[in-house]
Amino acid sequence: MKVTVVGAGAVGATCADNIARKELAHEVVLLDIKEGLAEGKAQDMMQTAQLLGFDTRITGSTADYSKTAGSDVVVITSGIPRKPGMTREELIGTNAGIVKGVAQNILQHSPDAIIIVISNPMDTMTYLALQSTGLPKHRIIGMGGTLDSSRFRYQLSQHLGCSPSDLNALVIGGHGDTTMIPLIRHATWNSIPVTQFLNADQQQQVVNDTMVGGATLTKLIGTSAWYAPGAAGAMLVESILRDEKKLQTCCVYLNGEYGQQDICLGVPVVVGRNGWEKIVELELNDEEQAAFAKSADAVRSMNDVLKTL
Ligand code: 2OP
Repeated sequence: MKVTVVGAGAVGATCADNIARKELAHEVVLLDIKEGLAEGKAQDMMQTAQLLGFDTRITGSTADYSKTAGSDVVVITSGIPRKPGMTREELIGTNAGIVKGVAQNILQHSPDAIIIVISNPMDTMTYLALQSTGLPKHRIIGMGGTLDSSRFRYQLSQHLGCSPSDLNALVIGGHGDTTMIPLIRHATWNSIPVTQFLNADQQQQVVNDTMVGGATLTKLIGTSAWYAPGAAGAMLVESILRDEKKLQTCCVYLNGEYGQQDICLGVPVVVGRNGWEKIVELELNDEEQAAFAKSADAVRSMNDVLKTL
């Protein structure tokens, strides 16, 4: 199995690192337009192979897409990250051109690849990748909800004093500070509803902290986060290459599901060797449904900006 990660910035490099450590593929190609960056990071990672005990081969390439030929999965992380105070949506002008070009270059050499989009604004970049390549919808997956759901579990674990891996919790909707919807009513601690343990104020706090999870880290670090975004990308690669059929929240094309059409938005999906294989419809109450519709409106108006670029 071969995986390409486009963009050797912090998110791309972390994603490649996770894929190699878990030996999810025989080969990982890290590609960047900045001369030497991908080659350097690939070598640095390869110099951990003996220390960490993995046999995946990581190579770097400066914009030579022929090196990516025959990739089974491609993760797109290219584009500029946000700076403190910026929203993900402000990146659209720069990142749209980059993501479109990357997706087209990739498909010239890996026509059967499944594409995972991490670049921001992620919902709109996923939609753009789908529209500009014309690929079957199951082969384009936006990563946002996988990351946001992990951040949601972290926030819950802090309040409950428990392990994040004992929690089941989903974030649906857009991958934006105001568009994501942490579904606290559905969240459980080993099957027990978390709402049994948290009062209304605590629940609201968890939801709010989850929604600004990325922005909080951007403020603290001075740039966008990378450990969890990179790990979330690698987790999706794992679900695909190992045909795990894991239920993840991912940004996928909706054609009537959840009452939405012609939009890519975060919903629970089964992820396996064919990409996202099935959308799972959750029963939402009126409030959750209204939040989902509002999230779709915001993402749709961001998608409309693509027409003006
Ligand atoms: C984040 O939320 C990179 O959008 C990503 O940190």
